[in-house]
Amino acid sequence: MDLGLTGKRTLVMGASSGLGKAIAQALRQEGAKVAICARGKQRLEATALEIDASPLVCDLSQPGAAQHLVEHAESVIGPLDILITNTGGPPVGNFMDVGSELWQQGFQGLWMSAVEGIRTVLSGMQERSWGRIVLVTSLAAKEPVPGLTVSNALRAGLLGLANSLSHEVAGQGVTVNSVLPGYTKTERLAELGVSDEELSANIPAGRLGRPEELAALTAFLCSEHAGYITGQAISVDGGQLMSI
Ligand SMILES: NC(=O)c1ccc[n+]([C@@H]2O[C@H](COP(=O)([O-])OP(=O)(O)OC[C@H]3O[C@@H](n4cnc5c(N)ncnc54)[C@H](OP(=O)(O)O)[C@@H]3O)[C@@H](O)[C@H]2O)c1
Repeated sequence: MDLGLTGKRTLVMGASSGLGKAIAQALRQEGAKVAICARGKQRLEATALEIDASPLVCDLSQPGAAQHLVEHAESVIGPLDILITNTGGPPVGNFMDVGSELWQQGFQGLWMSAVEGIRTVLSGMQERSWGRIVLVTSLAAKEPVPGLTVSNALRAGLLGLANSLSHEVAGQGVTVNSVLPGYTKTERLAELGVSDEELSANIPAGRLGRPEELAALTAFLCSEHAGYITGQAISVDGGQLMSI
């Protein structure tokens, strides 16, 4: 199936490794022109070389960074048709483990980076009557995960944001969807300190996800074929979520 992505100018946030990298690679393989960002310059440049993308160093946990990033990406690859919001996971812990400073940090990194990035890119997409915005969130957005209080709280809100925004911009050819990774084999998962076997035991599919499985869905949501799909939150989790 031709996804109709040839030449589409795309920015994937948080994409020197893991899910972001897999998404950037999938879009690039479909012919999109791709810019990627991360904090660490060396790995970012290596990934950019590997997948043939433009590397833009950026720390999304800094206020204003996502706006600057979008402007930078547009100056390098041209007006953006596709924006994928993604970053590292927020601070880990139960409610009483997380102080105000860490809440602020999580909020800026996870929430405001998406808000600032989308605000910066949106008017151009509306003017050109075509745009695809995909937010990478988590299965925690629908079913809280013990010990990830900040993530559980903020990601649920992002689904509300994506759905509200999708209504506002549907008439201008812009779609806004969320993808919800379940346990997928990346560095972030290793940070959680639980073995693959323990995690897999609770997944109906009996294994962890592969980054390219989330990437395939994301590429489809960015395609011409997905122009009538908007406001949705779709999980790629091996059947783990029980909610309907
Ligand atoms: N993997 C899973 O099982 C899973 C499940 C549910 C949800 N998620 C969520 O999905 C997102 C991506 O996860 P992942 O597994 O792909 O993580 P990952 O392998 O750690 O990759 C995260 C990427 O984002 C970049 N990044 C991190 N913090 C950043 C910042 N402040 N500014 C700019 N770039 C930043 C990292 O590069 P630098 O470190 O160099 O900046 C890296 O390229 C996370 O929010 C994670 O919580 C993951």
